[in-house]
Formats: sequence, structure tokens, C-alpha cells
Amino acid sequence: MAEVRLTDIRKSYGSLEVIKGVNLDVSSGEFVVFVGPSGCGKSTLLRMIAGLEDISAGELTIGGTVMNDVDPSKRGIAMVFQTYALYPHMTVRENMGFALRFAGMAKDEIASRVNAAAKILELDALMDRKPKALSGGQRQRVAIGRAIVRQPDVFLFDEPLSNLDAELRVHMRVEIARLHKELNATIVYVTHDQVEAMTLADKIVVMRGGIVEQVGAPLALYDDPDNMFVAGFIGSPRMNFLPAVVIGQVEGGQVTVALKARPDTQLTVACANPLKVGDAVTVGVRPEHFLPAGSGDTQMVAHVDVVEHLGNTSYVYAHTVPGEQIIIEQEERRHGGRYGDEIAVGISAKTSFLFDASGRRIR
Ligand SMILES: Nc1ncnc2c1ncn2[C@@H]1O[C@H](COP(=O)(O)OP(=O)(O)OP(=O)(O)O)[C@@H](O)[C@H]1O
Ligand SMILES: [Mg+2]
Repeated sequence: MAEVRLTDIRKSYGSLEVIKGVNLDVSSGEFVVFVGPSGCGKSTLLRMIAGLEDISAGELTIGGTVMNDVDPSKRGIAMVFQTYALYPHMTVRENMGFALRFAGMAKDEIASRVNAAAKILELDALMDRKPKALSGGQRQRVAIGRAIVRQPDVFLFDEPLSNLDAELRVHMRVEIARLHKELNATIVYVTHDQVEAMTLADKIVVMRGGIVEQVGAPLALYDDPDNMFVAGFIGSPRMNFLPAVVIGQVEGGQVTVALKARPDTQLTVACANPLKVGDAVTVGVRPEHFLPAGSGDTQMVAHVDVVEHLGNTSYVYAHTVPGEQIIIEQEERRHGGRYGDEIAVGISAKTSFLFDASGRRIR
């Protein structure tokens, strides 16, 4: 296995720069996940590591060797795509061994690698079937098998599970996590799926518009986001952002803020940065951090629009004032709010986040 290092990596198509200077270290054996909105450059960055796209500027090393101009086949990587395109006329065994045959490897060696991969992926019983006789999840496992047999230093995955239905996705997610442990593999993985990112990653890279917004362990990003973008991107349902204004400074690095929609809802929060009375800020509260009425440091009133009952938990979609929508997660049995009800919830300073007018986290 090998580490991957990106140093000020850039990519332009003509005059359009789509990757704007990315620095990233992926340690040997680490599982790194790229997330970010559509078009932010996740696939482009992955394809640059793979050698499927030229690197316009910066340096890429894999296992300590500069790879900028090395042929994809010589980088020690294997890539698995969203569309896994198996050869329909070949059996599972032939599909898995194809790249090795193409490279002229000895038959015995191919057979032993293919059999070993089949065992890991639990494909043993399906080796003589053609792809059309496989389920979506089984096909995806064959595609992963094709990558495993090449014994790459680094696995690159671009949304490998997004063509699968929800149940299969969960199943394959667990398979990939197991595979990572079993092979002790270095993996760089792109996904849109928040849960996939949170559950698989050792380290998540949140991208936006060709730059890296924040890198960190999943829970570190959830607990301690640097800005509103990361705060809103990590966590599902997403964090509520409540416009507020600073109404007072308290001794010892604290400020008191009042919600714009609910001036009576006031919260005193720690704030090392200098904020002045009158400054516009945003209070961030995750849906799961609203408390039952009467608890917490302050109370907020909202009007219920819709309640979604999920069994163990419920999501209350409400508004503070028209246009300011919030989501409150509650234990299912706690509250039976209905359309039009006025409800109160508690907010605690400890679990609230504060952002300045530019969206930067105020700590
Ligand atoms: N060949 C190309 N020529 C010009 N622009 C391109 C080319 N390929 C990609 N882009 C642009 O580069 C940006 C990044 O694209 P990329 O495919 O990396 O996004 P992504 O984060 O993978 O998005 P998605 O989540 O939709 O897959 C996009 O704005 C895209 O339009
Ligand atoms: Mg993509």
C-alpha cells in the first residue's frame, strides 16, 4: 500500500480553472472520501490521481514517486466507476481476470488472484455466470474484484454504489468497509451520499468550487465545522441556520445574540473573536439538538408545517416567521405536533454554532 500526496494541484480546461490548488495527504491504508456539491471537482481530482486527466499544475506523488506524467497503468492504482461496464459475453471469472490476461500474466497466477478475490467478495459460487445473470450488487462486486486482482497500491472509487437501490447500497457499503480492513488498502472514494461518507471515511474532504473547504475525521467535521458550508453539508437533515444579531457583549469572551425572527430568543455564546453590538451573525442548530420546551438556555417558538413520522424519530418541519423554515428532530413519542400548531423548543448554547456574516465559524 502507498500514500498519496497532492501539492497545490490545479486543473484548467482552457481558461476555466476547475481545481484551484488542492493540498492533501492520504496516508498508507487510509480511507479518504471526497464529498461536495455536483460540479465541485471530485471526479476531476480522482481522475487526475488515476492519470485519466492531465495535471495542469502542482505535484502528485504516490508512494513517494512523482506521478504527474506517469502512464495510468504504471501508477499502481485501480479505479472502480459508477457504471461498472462488465463484458457481457465473458463469465465473472473471465471479467475479473481480463486485465491480467491483457497484461500477459501467467495463467496460474491469474487463477490464484481471481480465486482469492472471489473469496473475499463471496463470489465463489457465481464464477461461471455471465453478468446478465447477476444482481446489481453482484455485478458491482465483480467490478471491485477486477480492481482487487490487480493488487493496486491505491484504490480509487467514483460513486461506485450510486446505481444500486437503497438496500443494496447499505449492504455494499458494509462490504467495502470490510474490504478496506481486510486488504488494509489505501482508498480514495467519491460519493454524494452523506451516510456513505460518514460511515466509511477515516477522513472526509469537503470540496466546493474546486477548492477544499475542510478536511477531517467524520465526527470532527460534524462537531467542529470551520464554516457554514461544511456545517450545512455534514449532518442529515442539515443544520438549521437562524439569522441573528449581536445585542450585547459579556465579560470573558462571550456575546449575547438575539434571533431576528424571534428577538425574545436570546443566547449567550463563547466568542473569542471581536464581535460588536449590531453585527449580523447566524446561529446554527442541528435538528437533533433542539430540546424539549422548558429545557436548554433559551426558548424558541415556531409554527408546525409538516411532521414526518419515521418510527424511532420524527422530523417536524416548522417556520419561525414565514420563509424561515426549520427542521426539528424529536423522539417519536415526545410530541404530537400537527399542521398549524405553535410549538416551543429549547436551545442550548453548548450545542449551538455561531457564524459571522461571511459564514466563517466564530469560536
Ligand atoms: N472536459 C471538460 N471540459 C470543461 N469542463 C469540464 C470538463 N470536465 C469537467 N468539467 C467541469 O469541471 C467541473 C468539475 O467537474 P467534476 O466532474 O469533477 O465534478 P463532480 O464534483 O465530480 O460532480 P458530480 O458530483 O456531478 O459528479 C465541472 O464544473 C465541470 O463542468
Ligand atoms: Mg463526479
